[in-house]
Amino acid sequence: MNQTVSDGLSQYLSEYQRSVEYQNHYWLELARSEIEWFTTPTQGLQHNTTEPSYTWFADGTLNISHNCLDRHVRDGHGAVTALVWQDETGQEQRLSYQQLLAKVCQTAQLLVQLGVQQGDRVTIYMPLSPEQVAVMLACARIGAMHNVVFAGFSATSLADRIADAASQFLFVTDVTLRRGKEIKLLATARQAVTSHPTVQVIVHRRNSSTELQEGELDFEQQLQKQPATFAPVPLPAETPLFMLYTSGTTGKPKGIVHTTGGYNLYTHYTSKRVFHLRRGTKYWCTADCGWITGHSYVVYGPLSNGATVYLVEGAPDYPAQDRWWQIVEHEEIEVLYTAPTAVRMLMQHGNELPEKHDLSSLKIIGSVGEPINQEAWHWLDEVIGGTTAAVVDTWWQTETGGHLLVTLPELPQKPGKAGLPFFGCQPVVVNTQGQEVAKGEKGYLAIREPWPGALRSCWQNHSRFAEYWQQLHGLYFSGDMAVQDTDGYVQVLGRADDVISVAGHRIGSAELEEVLTQHAAVTEAAVIGVPDDIKGERVIAFVIVVPQAKVSEAQLQAHVRTQYAAHGVPSEIQFVSSLPKTRSGKIMRRLLKSQITGEQLADTSTLEE
Ligand code: WT7
Repeated sequence: MNQTVSDGLSQYLSEYQRSVEYQNHYWLELARSEIEWFTTPTQGLQHNTTEPSYTWFADGTLNISHNCLDRHVRDGHGAVTALVWQDETGQEQRLSYQQLLAKVCQTAQLLVQLGVQQGDRVTIYMPLSPEQVAVMLACARIGAMHNVVFAGFSATSLADRIADAASQFLFVTDVTLRRGKEIKLLATARQAVTSHPTVQVIVHRRNSSTELQEGELDFEQQLQKQPATFAPVPLPAETPLFMLYTSGTTGKPKGIVHTTGGYNLYTHYTSKRVFHLRRGTKYWCTADCGWITGHSYVVYGPLSNGATVYLVEGAPDYPAQDRWWQIVEHEEIEVLYTAPTAVRMLMQHGNELPEKHDLSSLKIIGSVGEPINQEAWHWLDEVIGGTTAAVVDTWWQTETGGHLLVTLPELPQKPGKAGLPFFGCQPVVVNTQGQEVAKGEKGYLAIREPWPGALRSCWQNHSRFAEYWQQLHGLYFSGDMAVQDTDGYVQVLGRADDVISVAGHRIGSAELEEVLTQHAAVTEAAVIGVPDDIKGERVIAFVIVVPQAKVSEAQLQAHVRTQYAAHGVPSEIQFVSSLPKTRSGKIMRRLLKSQITGEQLADTSTLEE
């Protein structure tokens, strides 16, 4: 280990020590120095372990949109580029902080004019775009909650989320472009709201030929009528900022709720320490705002630091297989944050494509979504980063709000291991009783004590929230398996539950089985995830159909696409006459999986037949 690395490590260790020993002091100090408040908080963590519930900075008031926009403009950095958007046809939009602030103010004015009130849920069904970011920030500015639904979800999934959130407002873009095709989002949205006729639909039109129906509003037209100023509303730190649905082990997805103050600080500070974001740092996170990565590390964390954020619509290798490397070279991207599945796909196209481009602007390359395999890690390090950029794995979840396990770029990395905890985060690998297992042994990945970015609740379902903290007796249970080495580096091994990860997207087995059994011909279904070279996992379904039913694999795949989402479509559907079950009648997905993958099963003693 050279001197700088070992200095880095000892500095990290002493700051880490301080962050857990004097947790409240550590975070309160950062809350005061890193973000701005209308009322400075004096309270740090307040934790009611029996409830359970917790708050951070509860007596402070702030507005996250002020921290993301106004303060940069006020300090004379209004001309710095905030957003650079481009689509696959080469269309481009650049907005300075000043311009984005004006757009957000106009959008906030529009929200108020439409009657959106504090605490109301505003659903967003839009592709990655400045408009999408503006609606998110405008909600934050007035204290409404946004509810972003990934634009790949079907009309049924969108309708379910609108209904569960009891959301009366829907922002939608007419189309999104992917691989040369126009995907008609407005048509899907209209289908979704047929069952919710009171929902006000506001349409961002990219195509001037898109015609609006009665009752729908044109976003641009409405904006032009609005003044470009709107004072950010001072909000108590625990004001809900957004909800975001994610899949769990039971049928319905849950609306994870994050609040303003803790989330602002946590996404801000992780962005600063992990990605070294500063004013104008050219930063490109390839995630969509439909997922938590987009919320925390496209919008809030980077903008709070004043970075220049790239929004790139479409696929990584279309229209050219080296599209991403062209962008990195042309824009001189300094920090790239992406997912192993995309990396593995691009690796397939060979080294010549990235080698044609000068990628030397890259200083930090982040990875998220699933464990990064050694091959992909080394490819990023050598071929993309030219061995001079740091490759940093980041483990976290929708629930955690921001990075929890992440070996800072200046520290020694262990490829394939997310590694060391972020400041203030105390990971433990435990058994079912919540007791720590020996180093080197597998166990459940848990976290001791809430951190500022932690989820505060599940929408309208606080008992589902409580399960996170009760299953392992007061520790936060992540749902992942992990192993920690003697240096304290944690390797995340994957989910401990029946959540499948396809290209880093979470799919609940039970949720997908429910979708399948909603098809008239299907009486029972079981779905499993099996290893896939590119996507990490892919879905295989087993179905029992009603006698004489004539239904094909393709028809059931289409059913999943229209009733759920394209990323949940099983790559293979097997028609079976029975499913393996336990004596209590639960489907043994593990057994189905072992039949496909050839893995040995440890315990089948509860199996019925
Ligand atoms: C699940 C959370 C966090 C943003 C993207 C996904 C898996 C995520 C890693 C990583 C190993 C990872 C876990 C986790 N996961 N990042 N670096 N190494 N596994 O958010 O949809 O809430 O999914 O993704 O299994 O539990 P999400």
